Amino acid sequence: MFMKAIRISEFGLPKVMELKEIDRPVPKSDEILVKVYASGINPVDLVIRAGSNPALSYNLSLPMTLGWDTAGIIEELGDEVAGFQKGDAVYGVPNFPGDGSYAEYVVAKASQFALKPKNICFNDAAGIPLAALTAWTAMFEFGKLKMGQRILIQGASGSVGGFAVQFAKSMGAYVIGTASADSFDYLRQIGADEFIDYKTQKFEDLVSEVDIVLEVSSVRDNNERLKSVKVLKKNGILVSVNTDFAFNDEVLQALDRKNGKGELSANQPRKKWLEEIKKLIETEKVNVPKGVVFPLENAIEAHSLMESKSAKGKMILQVRKEN
Ligand SMILES: NC(=O)c1ccc[n+]([C@@H]2O[C@H](COP(=O)([O-])OP(=O)(O)OC[C@H]3O[C@@H](n4cnc5c(N)ncnc54)[C@H](OP(=O)(O)O)[C@@H]3O)[C@@H](O)[C@H]2O)c1
Repeated sequence: MFMKAIRISEFGLPKVMELKEIDRPVPKSDEILVKVYASGINPVDLVIRAGSNPALSYNLSLPMTLGWDTAGIIEELGDEVAGFQKGDAVYGVPNFPGDGSYAEYVVAKASQFALKPKNICFNDAAGIPLAALTAWTAMFEFGKLKMGQRILIQGASGSVGGFAVQFAKSMGAYVIGTASADSFDYLRQIGADEFIDYKTQKFEDLVSEVDIVLEVSSVRDNNERLKSVKVLKKNGILVSVNTDFAFNDEVLQALDRKNGKGELSANQPRKKWLEEIKKLIETEKVNVPKGVVFPLENAIEAHSLMESKSAKGKMILQVRKEN
């Protein structure tokens, strides 16, 4: 059986993405085959497409299908898969590295998917898994955030940051977020306690004694991280999701002087956490922002727009229309 997919055969500009007809994948014993309704687009898709991270590119084999954020319906299950059945509406993260979800079907480890929140559509659900799991892993697994703690979230208005703010509030933390002033209405709506405009204000002069700094902005700058260490309490934790950009010696020494910790956090795609996130969404403790939706065949346009930074918000590729 065949399916349509957006493939790349070389790394480069958005135009390297081509709509192709390829074999439909077959699930292994621990995998599910998902009929994709929508696929989220994340910064990592652009990085991989451009071949601009040699560590990642080295692990990939061309040609390949991009996309590691999916919402769809289970079409087939491997022999060992338990807890799901054919026809379940699910959301999750396809195998990485491997063929992704800019396609009519994707196979993925069942352990990386959960039932989709019932109160949102496939397009909205497809923007959740990677960003939300990145926020969850960084804040709870590495940051060990607890009720009543103070957290500074750098990049609070982004896809990862928006979930981080809401997860932290649902846990009962005090949340300070940095973003551009244009995003303040959004930060207010999702419940941040204080906001700082990174373009006109110096957070290091306004904030102190935080338990955790969470770096979920697009910035890669160790001088900025030094300022983050300055605002930490003794024994505080600096967690960055920008795993492609190591802490330098100065940052590590500054953390040592505070008896603090620095963590680089890669998202862990766990079913259990997707189930927790589903509950938070269904009980309306977490709000899912509407994305900008493009048909699958317009992937080039979506990547170009995201790269130009002229549009805000999550970009979604719609693969099928919902009834
Ligand atoms: N480790 C992992 O597993 C993993 C997974 C997913 C993403 N990531 C990384 O996480 C980061 C965020 O991803 P995303 O999808 O959330 O991106 P995004 O939606 O584009 O968000 C980027 C955020 O950075 C903010 N920002 C830009 N310049 C800033 C500055 N100078 N100071 C403070 N904030 C600034 C933006 O604020 P405004 O829009 O308000 O200007 C926005 O809130 C990216 O670097 C991505 O590579 C890592």
